[in-house]
Amino acid sequence: MSVMEALHWRYAAKRMNGRKVARDALDNILDAAHLAPSSYGLQPYSVLVIEAPALRERIRRTACDQPQISECSHLLIFAAWSEVDGRHVDELIELTAASRGLDPKELEGYRQALHDAVAGFSTPEARLQWAARQAYIALGTALTVAAAQRVDASPMEGFDPAALDALLGLEEQGLRSVVLLALGYRDTEQDRLAGQAKVRWPKERFVVELSGA
Ligand SMILES: Cc1cc2nc3c(=O)[nH]c(=O)nc-3n(C[C@H](O)[C@H](O)[C@H](O)COP(=O)(O)O)c2cc1C
Repeated sequence: MSVMEALHWRYAAKRMNGRKVARDALDNILDAAHLAPSSYGLQPYSVLVIEAPALRERIRRTACDQPQISECSHLLIFAAWSEVDGRHVDELIELTAASRGLDPKELEGYRQALHDAVAGFSTPEARLQWAARQAYIALGTALTVAAAQRVDASPMEGFDPAALDALLGLEEQGLRSVVLLALGYRDTEQDRLAGQAKVRWPKERFVVELSGA
């Protein structure tokens, strides 16, 4: 299946049938999220993987009782880092140097620029929103790779982040939940949206080509 066919095939399944996603397919989805680009390459978020049914039941109660949380195979939580500071920058510079066989001193200018960037947010909330935006890029990448493997993936913002963070003790871990992704297989009998036509704005409204004249 081509990537375009996969994107037409996918939809945000509201009901799933409980079938398990094989470990290698799950790993591909996680690897795709891991490979997603991010601002400065800082990847200021983590992806939590939850398989345990009992825990998913408790999470469902913080998420508008959405059935796909119980019926999925694995639930991913994209969680932004609540702190991003110079220590992360220094770690990233070390990692970059080690990954590319460089002397960290060669990256000094870049290190300084990144220090300035992470110190430059006007408020902690602005920094958190920036981190959350990076997490959404990984979400989109994971959605695409799930579809390419014919794994259904249901993104969800319909949850109470404060309640979920409290349930999982995320604040103590420096994390704030941003968006959920249920992975599994569609229940075509119970899901009224299965097989429905895609609804998108007309392409000529969505794509605006500027002439430059
Ligand atoms: C960030 C995000 C959050 C969403 N939150 C929910 C949600 O909480 N519950 C839900 O049923 N669908 C949710 N959706 C699914 C959208 O309603 C769905 O993607 C949209 O209607 C387009 O349809 P399609 O993805 O099935 O093609 C969300 C989608 C995105 C991208």
